[in-house]
Amino acid sequence: MYRIVFTQVLSRIDPEDIHHLTVGALRLLSATPVVRRLVHRRLAPRDPALRVRAFGVHFPSPFGLAAGFDKDARCVEAMSALGFGHVEVGTITAHAQPGNARPRLFRLVRERAVINRMGFNNAGAAAAAKALGRTRGVPVVVGVNIGKTKVVPESQAADDYVTSAKELAPLADYLVVNVSSPNTPGLRDLQAVELLRPLLRAVKEVADGTPRRTPLLVKIAPDLADEDVDAVADLALELDLDGVIATNTTISRKDVSSTETGGLSGRPLKARSLEVLRRLRARVGDRLVLVSVGGVEGVDDVWERLLAGATLVQGYTGMIYEGPLWAWRINRDLSRRLRRHGVADVRQIIGRTAG
Ligand SMILES: Cc1cc2nc3c(=O)[nH]c(=O)nc-3n(C[C@H](O)[C@H](O)[C@H](O)COP(=O)(O)O)c2cc1C
Repeated sequence: MYRIVFTQVLSRIDPEDIHHLTVGALRLLSATPVVRRLVHRRLAPRDPALRVRAFGVHFPSPFGLAAGFDKDARCVEAMSALGFGHVEVGTITAHAQPGNARPRLFRLVRERAVINRMGFNNAGAAAAAKALGRTRGVPVVVGVNIGKTKVVPESQAADDYVTSAKELAPLADYLVVNVSSPNTPGLRDLQAVELLRPLLRAVKEVADGTPRRTPLLVKIAPDLADEDVDAVADLALELDLDGVIATNTTISRKDVSSTETGGLSGRPLKARSLEVLRRLRARVGDRLVLVSVGGVEGVDDVWERLLAGATLVQGYTGMIYEGPLWAWRINRDLSRRLRRHGVADVRQIIGRTAG
C-alpha cells in the first residue's frame, strides 16, 4: 500500500515538504494521548524477547530511530508509538540556526538512498529542552544528539557542545556527541583524536554530573580511515565513554549516479557501515555499547548487525521507502526469527558472529 502511495504521490513532491508534513502529523499524534496510546498498543514492541539493556537503560527493542528525523524533539512520543525502541533527537546545536539553503534533501529512488545537506537546521538547545520537558512521564527512550553551531569557530567547539550538554543531558536517556556530519564545515575534523579528546572530556564532565549520570556516546563517520576508527575506539575506552554510534552519512559517491553534495544514506551505505561495526567490535569487544546505523532496510540487516556485535541498531532512510509501519514490521520479523531459531532473548545473539 505505502509503495503505491510512494510511487504515485510522495515521490513527485519535494522531499523536505513531505518531511515537514509528516512531522506535523506526528506532532499531532504525539499531542493526542488517546489515539497515541491506541497506536502504541497496536504497533509498539511488546515481546519480552526483544528487550535489551544498554548502559543501564532498558530498551523495548534494539531497533530505534536515527538522528536527523526529529531534529527538535517534536514527535518522540509518536515515533515510539510507531514501534521504535528508542528515538534519537537532534542534531541539536547550542544556538538556533536555519541550516543550508533549499533544496537540501534529495531522494535517489533507484538506489534506495537519500542525499542531504540540511546543515543542522534546528531551533537550538533551549527550545529542545522545552520540548523534551513535555515528554516526561511518557515511556520512551530518548537519545539526544548534539553538534556544533555553524558560526562557532573550531577553537570554541568544546564550549559550544558543553552549552548544549548542560541544557540537554539532564533530559536525555543518553547523550551523543556528533562529530561526523558532512554538512557543517570542519565538523568532521573534530574526529581527530587530539581535538576529540578535550571535547569529549568536557562533555563527559557535564554528563557525569547529572543526577542519573547520563551515558555518553560518540557518533562517527563511515569515511574515517580504518586506523582512525581504531583510534576513536581506543579514545572512547580511554575516556570511559559508554558507546560508539557508527555510522553517519558518507561523502563517498561509489555506485551512485547523483552528484549532489551532502551526506549519502540508505542502501549504498550498508556495506561500509557494517564494515565499521565489525572493526569496532574487533577492537573493543563488549567493553563499549556499539550502535549500528547505515543502510538498514529490514530484519535481515538488523539481524546481521546484532550478530556482528551491535547492541542497538538504528535507521532513518529505510522509513522513507518503507513507510510508517517500518519499525513495527522489523520488530515483528525479529520476534519471529528469534522464535524460529529457538532464541528466547535477543541479547543471546549479540556478537555471536564477531571474532
Ligand atoms: C535527512 C537526514 C538528516 C540527517 N540528520 C542527521 C543529524 O542531524 N545528525 C546526525 O547525527 N545524523 C543525521 N543523519 C544521519 C542518520 O542519523 C544516519 O546516521 C544515516 O542516515 C545512516 O542511516 P540510514 O542509512 O538508515 O539513513 C541524517 C540523515 C538523513 C537522511
